[in-house]
Order: sequence, then structure tokens, then C-alpha cells
Amino acid sequence: MEIVESIELMQQRMARTRAAGSTIAFVPTMGFLHDGHLSLLKEGRRRSDLLVLSIFVNPTQFGQGEDFDDYPRDFQQDCVLAQSAGVDIIFTPTAMAMYSTGYATEVNVSGITSGLCGASRPTHFRGVCTVVTKLFNIVQPHIALFGSKDFQQLAVVKRMTRDLNLPIEIVGMAIYRETDGLAMSSRNVYLNSEQRCQALALSQGITLAQDMVKQGEAEAGAVLAAVSSHLGAQSLIRPDYIAVCHQSTLEPQQQIDKDSVLLIAAFVGSTRLIDNGYLMDAS
Ligand code: PAF
Repeated sequence: MEIVESIELMQQRMARTRAAGSTIAFVPTMGFLHDGHLSLLKEGRRRSDLLVLSIFVNPTQFGQGEDFDDYPRDFQQDCVLAQSAGVDIIFTPTAMAMYSTGYATEVNVSGITSGLCGASRPTHFRGVCTVVTKLFNIVQPHIALFGSKDFQQLAVVKRMTRDLNLPIEIVGMAIYRETDGLAMSSRNVYLNSEQRCQALALSQGITLAQDMVKQGEAEAGAVLAAVSSHLGAQSLIRPDYIAVCHQSTLEPQQQIDKDSVLLIAAFVGSTRLIDNGYLMDAS
């Protein structure tokens, strides 16, 4: 496994790989890898000749007062896990190289970035789209794999890739959960034991909603009220949003149908967690 820090070396190496006719799979991450990331790497390994993992805690996607400085980092452990997942190259640029003096360009996707996480984190998706575009241009992958816990991020990256005619297949992978249902996230490490316990209300809320729909409930309002009251019963949880949206447009829906997704963001203590689930059988 190689570790590459230089953007120029990475671009040259990737151009040679492509010229030799090999396929490249890419998993962009901010590190502190968990089993969810490993599932993306496993799928990338299966689908390509060369597997690239990027580890870059991207400053431009964190708003003021968010957890950029505290974001968990453990590069040594990430290397061990990456090696075990069959990664060929870890690309880990510095922030200075990615955003050098005079840097002035941003990629903005409008519409689907304005609600949900975009409403409470107004600069977040601009940072994500900018860094993902830059990483795509450096790594030049044939496919890129993203987890669907960040459901809005996945929809936004798909929209951007289509809109900009990027020749990359975007693969969304199922949410990876702890055995008790909590969606895996690097930020789960922030939770103390009581918060960890109450955080289960997010995945329980999704199951509750799915059960209501199974039993014939089709009104988004009724489902939202039930989930909201379930979360509200937890003293340490402060919901940011609970929404039923169309899976591609992310427009809010009144009536539940096969495209409906329940999306939740909530603060557990000071940790902001997100989770989601399709309300009818996954399509
Ligand atoms: O999902 C993440 O970890 C990040 O948003 C990403 C896609 C690596 C961009 O920094």
C-alpha cells in the first residue's frame, strides 16, 4: 500500500493507471475509519483494479463553531484498516496544498442543498462539492463510493456528477449499523454512555415510522408526529429536522409512497447525528 501526499504525483500515477487500461475505484473519507467505510472499500476492491482511499479532513465543509478542530483523527489506525481492506493507495493531501494561497473557486449545487442539512449548515455542501470535485480531478476514478447515512450528500454528489458530466459512476452503499441499530459514524466517539444510549432513538424512530407505514399509514404528518414524540421523550436529544422527502429531489412529501425517505438530524448532547431510512421497501 502506498501513501501519497502530493497532488501532482497522485495525478501522474492515476493517469498512468488509466493509460494502462486499469479501472480505479475511489472512496473519499475524512478518516477515523469504521466498518461503514470498510464496506465501501470492500465493494470498491471487488469492482476495480486499483483501490484509492482519500483521507482529508476538509476544512471548507465545516461551519464556524463546528467540530473541525476536534474531528477525530487516527492516521496510524486508518493505515492498518486500509491495508486490511486491500487499499492500494491512500491519498492524503495537506490543506495547504488543496487550498493554496489565492484559492478562489467553489462548486455550488443549488436546490437540493437548501433544505435539511443545508438549512442548518448553509456552507456545508459547497465545501463538500468543491472538495469532491477536486478529489475527482486528482484521482480520476471510474467509480466513487459513498455511504448513504449522509443521504443528502449522496443525492447532491449524484446531481453534481450528472450536471457537470463527470465520467464517474457514483455508487451509494447501505448504512452500516452497530448491532443495536445506531448508524456508524466517526462522530459516535463523541458520545458518553448516556448519550450513546439515547442516540438509539434515531434508528428506533426510523423503525417506528416503517412499522406505521407497513400498517397502512400514508400521511407523512402522522409519521412525523410519532417520530418527533419518540425523539422528544429523550432528555438529551434536540432534533434539528425530521422530514419525509422524495429520495431523488429531497422535496418534502405529504403522502408516503415508494420514493419516500425519512430523514432525521438531531443533537445528542452537542453531537449532531444523522440517520435515514426508506419508508416502503427499499427501491
Ligand atoms: O462524507 C465525508 O466523509 C466527506 O463529506 C467527504 C465526502 C469525504 C468530503 O470531504
